[in-house]
Amino acid sequence: MAVGIHRKTIAYIDKQAIIHNVQQEMKRLDKDTVLYAVVKADGYGHGAIEVAKAAKKGGASGFCVAILDEALELREAGFTEPILILGLVDVKYVELLVLNKFSVTVGSLDWLEKANEIIRVNEYNEKLYVHIALDTGMGRIGIRTKEELQEIERWLDGNERICFEGVFTHFATADSPDQKQFEKQVSKFNILVESLHRKPPFVHTANSATALWHKSSSSNLIRFGIAMYGLNPSGGVLSEPYQLTPAMKISSEVNYVKQMQEGDTIGYGATYSASQGEWVGTVPIGYGDGWPRGLQGQDVLVDGKRCEIIGRVCMDQCMIRLPYEVEEGSEVILVGQSQEQLITLQEIADHLNTIHYEITCGLTARIPRRYDNTSIANSDKKTNIF
Ligand SMILES: Cc1ncc(COP(=O)(O)O)c(C=O)c1O
Repeated sequence: MAVGIHRKTIAYIDKQAIIHNVQQEMKRLDKDTVLYAVVKADGYGHGAIEVAKAAKKGGASGFCVAILDEALELREAGFTEPILILGLVDVKYVELLVLNKFSVTVGSLDWLEKANEIIRVNEYNEKLYVHIALDTGMGRIGIRTKEELQEIERWLDGNERICFEGVFTHFATADSPDQKQFEKQVSKFNILVESLHRKPPFVHTANSATALWHKSSSSNLIRFGIAMYGLNPSGGVLSEPYQLTPAMKISSEVNYVKQMQEGDTIGYGATYSASQGEWVGTVPIGYGDGWPRGLQGQDVLVDGKRCEIIGRVCMDQCMIRLPYEVEEGSEVILVGQSQEQLITLQEIADHLNTIHYEITCGLTARIPRRYDNTSIANSDKKTNIF
């Protein structure tokens, strides 16, 4: 996909915020607990490589990704730290797992047997590192009974090709004030783990929400995702034990300004009619950039003032109602601060009746990610971007 470097629609990523968020979490961890930065889905849309660099500076000692290609991207970028792949990988790619020293999630004995056979036949020198997933109530992947887990443990015991490095689960409701489901999962996890004769080096349960709000839950590896990006996993329902600093801001410009006559219409479907003398600006961002059509009616900021998106969001552009005539080229803050006003990713998510994870992950490659404040395209304009 072409990246829009000749247009002023940009996602600014504040790496200091990522470093800060990781450092804040690191301060709370026991000394034998490690933090792996979750950088799947291109670092939740923030850019996996730059996020991984910042997370490492903050103290992350490893990374989690969802798919093999994301793990390869990190290795190719030169990261030598442990990388845990949280999703299932087709067993035919065992060679890539072994040669790149990836740790991989496993959910069945059948997968292990096939992997073992491939490693035996090919006589790889390196071991395969596996983390056994336990399904304690997420219903996604993982072993569900003691019997299955013990069978896997017996099979792995003494295996020279496959190292039983970890066992883990994922909570469905760690971000909820209602603890019932969470506690049910904790208790199922404990029963399963206690049925092991020997615990592997890593026993882990903690995503961001678990790390923030269930510190007592047994985990010597934190899979730190959304909170690293400065976003509250509960969408603000639970308050943060320390201040999370959002890393992403999105800005653009007003690239066309006009005054409307009474009844003039805006956008596909002509869903908006202007009143006499209304000033309307066009902003070069649309659903082709991951700025969804459902954002009709959401505000953006111009000169510290809230301006509503009027008419339907197009693929590449949307229109906003201006408080007065502004110069073409005026900065538009879609997510971030302008003077006294702030638009958060949570506000965008609420407007769309979704979660902020989906907004950042959904921003397409067409929007460039900028990591250096000094390279802000509109830097002659002094709107407070961060
Ligand atoms: C297994 C697993 N662990 C950890 C995470 C990170 O979660 P969060 O971003 O809520 O911290 C995810 C994200 O979906 C996940 O699937």
